[in-house]
Amino acid sequence: MSNTDHKVILTCAQPSGQLHLGNYFGALLNWASMIDDYECFFGIVDQHAITAPYVPAELRQATYRNLALYIASGLDPEKCHLFCQSHIVGHTELAWILGCLCPIGQLERMTQYKDKTQRQDSGFIGSGLLNYPVLMAADILIYNADRVPVGEDQKQHVELCRDLAIKFNNTYSETFKVPEVYIPKTGARVRSLQDPNRKMSKSDANQSGCVYLLDPPNIVRKKIRSAVTDSGSAVRFAQDKPGVSNLLSIMSASTGKSIEDLENEFAGSQYGTFKDAVADAVITVLEPIQAKYEEIQKDKAYLDRIFREGAGAAQKRANKIMSKVYRKVGFVPRT
Ligand code: TYM
Repeated sequence: MSNTDHKVILTCAQPSGQLHLGNYFGALLNWASMIDDYECFFGIVDQHAITAPYVPAELRQATYRNLALYIASGLDPEKCHLFCQSHIVGHTELAWILGCLCPIGQLERMTQYKDKTQRQDSGFIGSGLLNYPVLMAADILIYNADRVPVGEDQKQHVELCRDLAIKFNNTYSETFKVPEVYIPKTGARVRSLQDPNRKMSKSDANQSGCVYLLDPPNIVRKKIRSAVTDSGSAVRFAQDKPGVSNLLSIMSASTGKSIEDLENEFAGSQYGTFKDAVADAVITVLEPIQAKYEEIQKDKAYLDRIFREGAGAAQKRANKIMSKVYRKVGFVPRT
């Protein structure tokens, strides 16, 4: 892992609410496949999580829970750096500098910003929500990452990050690598079981559309059995069958079987039989994750140690990039 020749991967998830199947197939599973071949930094971005109304004690709890779930999902801390965003000095500092280069209009046009401002119940929209993608760009650029693996919903944000890297380089001279976005082939957009036109999301009003990684088997089965399907009865992947297509994608991601193989396997089956098989496949994926999670989640000293070690490695790399950035933008060095 200390091999400095390795390409650098950086990606993060927010500790708001619980991690779900979308986070697993769109993110964690894909991240775990990279830890042997790259130098990987995986963050838990608590500073992002305060851009929407939240409860501080729940944020603290979710930060530890996410770390335990990262490890339980295969992110071996011996092979990658797991860190908490607020432990690293530099993310918000770099965000300030990048924000000075970022046109407001570009932030106002971000799909997720428009979506969230329309849904925010309280009517209060903090400027943190608008500036969110700039902080995300800083998360990536502060490690001079080569590649950023994300689900499809984060693609636009990584594109903004690329724009800002280019703009910084053009303004102040070559400094940042322009990171490549990496989207997995399966599971890049797991959809809500209740509204397959929307992505599966922890902020979804209807929580029965969202399978959490810590849901017990009976709840997983109940949620999948009540998933919205379509009229007709064929188990087929098609544009006019978003519910069944979503279940096929989930089963494909869970089993490694292709969609075509699954269509053949369930040709002539009732939706009920198919849904039970999807539930079995998901439960099989979740069981070992939940068992490992139970083993480590109570050991706060262990989790704190992982955060400490992750912060050590992350801070070291961040300092290197930040001293370069400060020099380029004309700040007087601190002596
Ligand atoms: P977040 O916390 O919403 O999601 C974490 C990761 O899970 C992916 N994901 C999904 N993939 C497939 N189907 C879904 N339904 C689904 N829902 C979520 C996301 O694409 C993401 O990869 N802004 C980011 C966190 C972030 C970040 C970063 C990511 C902050 N700084 C720097 C990469 C690099 C977010 O809110 O992800």
